[in-house]
Amino acid sequence: MTNNKPLVLMTHELPEDWVGELLDDYQVITGFNEKRGLDSRLIKHLDKAEGILCLLDDPIPAEALERAPDLKVISSMAVGVDNIDVAACTRLSIPVGHTPGVLTEGTADLTVALLLAVCRRLPTASEDARQGRWKNWDPTGWLGMDLNNSTVGIVGLGKIGTAVGERLASFGARIIFNNRSPQPEKEKKLNATQVELDELLRTSDFICLHAPLTEETANLINEQAFQKMKSSAILINAARGAIVDTQALTRALKEGWIWAAGLDVTDPEPLPPNHPLYKLDNCLITPHIGSATFQIRQIMANIAIENLSAGIKGIRLPYCANPEIYT
Ligand code: DGY
Repeated sequence: MTNNKPLVLMTHELPEDWVGELLDDYQVITGFNEKRGLDSRLIKHLDKAEGILCLLDDPIPAEALERAPDLKVISSMAVGVDNIDVAACTRLSIPVGHTPGVLTEGTADLTVALLLAVCRRLPTASEDARQGRWKNWDPTGWLGMDLNNSTVGIVGLGKIGTAVGERLASFGARIIFNNRSPQPEKEKKLNATQVELDELLRTSDFICLHAPLTEETANLINEQAFQKMKSSAILINAARGAIVDTQALTRALKEGWIWAAGLDVTDPEPLPPNHPLYKLDNCLITPHIGSATFQIRQIMANIAIENLSAGIKGIRLPYCANPEIYT
């Protein structure tokens, strides 16, 4: 390692076969695995850093950028960049790299897996079998909800929302969606109908959240929203935890305002082990594994490194979350 190589701060250790190229080309300082964000080991090197490679739960605030006069790029190994002050990066002409597209199908698969597991009560049924509570074929045991002929409401018809819509339409569900802008082509492709959020909440049997976390979507699914839903409704969140008010969700599930929920993301994240949501058997929680396949994670790491290298070389990032800096 020579000192004239550009300095990169990497918030978390990554497997060597993913980051080999990065280690060769740069002087890399890695943060503490158990801490998130720019921890004490990294902060003291901000003044010389040319690149930051981070994950989706590493907060990168404007104050950190102000301490990094040589910073040329922030590259996140994620598609969502709500952890980064992107507006501040844009003001400072720092490109923010992300990994769109590669995790669309995987996250859509996980969403459907979560939805099916919740609506057919797989965790409870499996645990009951394991614990000897399967006595005979029980005509009223472990009853779930039909997906065929149901109405699925998708909030946010971006890439992942559309991929979920395609999958669920093939299960015989009718798709409705709410989106900031009209989506006539996708509407046609999915044989779907664009509706106001209020209508979606009132009429959906399944509500799948796929919007990014922004000021408009934070706490979008709050107590009032739960009160509008059917008591048989199932909420699936594989987007960002903070789109849902966790306290309101806990109450809605406990008091039967809705039937069940499947969450791949929570607020806070990770959800502490003593959280009341874990005690509810109508709530299935997975630890943000939407993109967790060997193949997808390796591609995400490769793209993150491509973005980082481009930024350090001063060329346009292949996948940039704030492309307006180039105009
Ligand atoms: C992302 O990249 O934003 C996803 O949430 C990871 O699964």
